[in-house]
Amino acid sequence: MSERLIIFDTTLRDGEQVPGCQLSTIEKVQVARALEELGTDVIEAGFPVSSPGDFHSVECIAQAVSKSVVCALARAVPSDIDIAAQALKNAQRGRIHTGLGTSDQHIRYKFASTREKILEQAVNAVRYARNLIDDVEFYCEDAGRADNEFLAEVVGAVIRAGATVVNIPDTTGVCLPETFGQKIRYLMENVDGIDNVTLSVHCHNDLGLATANTLAAVQAGARQVQVAMNGIGERAGNAALEEIVMILRSHPELGMNTGIDTTRLFHTSRLVSSLMNMPVQANKAIVGRNAFSHSSGIHQDGILKNRRNYEILNPKDVGMLDSSLILTARSGRAALQQRCQLLGVEVEGEQLNALYDRFLQLADSKTDISDQDILSLTGQNGGMKERATLDYMNVTSGKGVESSATVRLTIDGKQYESQSAGNGPVDAAIKSIKKITGNRMTIREFLIQAMDHGSDDTGKVHMQVEFEGVLYYGFAADTDIVNASVQAFINAVNKFPCDRLVLL
Ligand code: KIV
Ligand code: ZN
Repeated sequence: MSERLIIFDTTLRDGEQVPGCQLSTIEKVQVARALEELGTDVIEAGFPVSSPGDFHSVECIAQAVSKSVVCALARAVPSDIDIAAQALKNAQRGRIHTGLGTSDQHIRYKFASTREKILEQAVNAVRYARNLIDDVEFYCEDAGRADNEFLAEVVGAVIRAGATVVNIPDTTGVCLPETFGQKIRYLMENVDGIDNVTLSVHCHNDLGLATANTLAAVQAGARQVQVAMNGIGERAGNAALEEIVMILRSHPELGMNTGIDTTRLFHTSRLVSSLMNMPVQANKAIVGRNAFSHSSGIHQDGILKNRRNYEILNPKDVGMLDSSLILTARSGRAALQQRCQLLGVEVEGEQLNALYDRFLQLADSKTDISDQDILSLTGQNGGMKERATLDYMNVTSGKGVESSATVRLTIDGKQYESQSAGNGPVDAAIKSIKKITGNRMTIREFLIQAMDHGSDDTGKVHMQVEFEGVLYYGFAADTDIVNASVQAFINAVNKFPCDRLVLL
């Protein structure tokens, strides 16, 4: 029988602290609802004393969420704890997360205090919080660098004072998995009453070890992990929720399960990324754009024979549509043939060999081979000309103005015009194009990145558009991001199989 690991998500607290990631209350509630849907056990909603805005957000999340525990952070001082309790007053299941530094570094150089005084303050804070709420988690900040004996003393004392959960953070991300695991084991073996509380960990990623340290702690007895979607958080971030969940799922021998609906991981990752303006790196484990893309010929051939040759996870299990084979100079005949089939072109034998030679010549001079290029090589599109082009676009948008767009496209030599309203200029323009092109496509991924700095910068738009169960990638760059977005959409539409588009 496997044991249940409690997933405590801190995307909205440690994650939201990151410069540039700040969210409005409405957006925070949206993320909290998505985390609840995902199956997160505890949602750390914010640090209410830090600002009236954060207080309000915690209040709203406490009202909006009913299944997950809603947690509020407070330093180990009565005024913080009072405000956290007030923000949580309407929560169905509220928790206060209070604590302070326990390493000698923090005690001496952050608080100019002593171990004795810190111990007393910890106990007082937990007692104070317990008078206001039943569920109190105590964090021993910088536990990663704290002396194990003193840490055990603090943990024992806060348990006696009424803590229900004790959190052991590796605040600076300095620990090695083995030593962090030993620290947890030491506490499990040396603290009276440890079995009556949940031991939690919170690992930072300064050395890229957050996931490994979290896992080592779970193997040593921790039963709650503090994680964040896409691994966001202070500095190099926190352990990534999606990584811990999928590691435990891929290794049943670890004997742990979670309540996470893994098929919602990709969606939640993209929601957080787009609301927080924090692109997910393409090679990010589990949720990166390339996590299920195969580009070398040997790998592509292996995948086509049996996907388990190179894939240990099924992309559908994390909510991605399917794996993709990227065509580059290292791709083999099998991948080229599969792409041709997807594009509705059958090539075999000598014809395939000849096509492959032409493909290699092109791939040597061009890094990304598009479906349009393949169609052109197979002689299916009458040359390199794009099928659909944008002739004219006029968008209206602004504060207090409903966004609308008029677009004119030429498709296969014929002109089409359409108008739409939308929740912004991009939405309005893309709705107009969808009207012309049959409305059966869905944008699955939409990423806008500035190339450099400044308001005069060029925006790069990457888009994945789903059409008839297949993902088509679109790209464009322009100083006008509405134009770049529309061109990226058209770029993807141009890759749809020619006979499948139903035009206006
Ligand atoms: O990194 C840390 O120690 C924290 C605590 C507030 C839990 O974020
Ligand atoms: Zn932290």
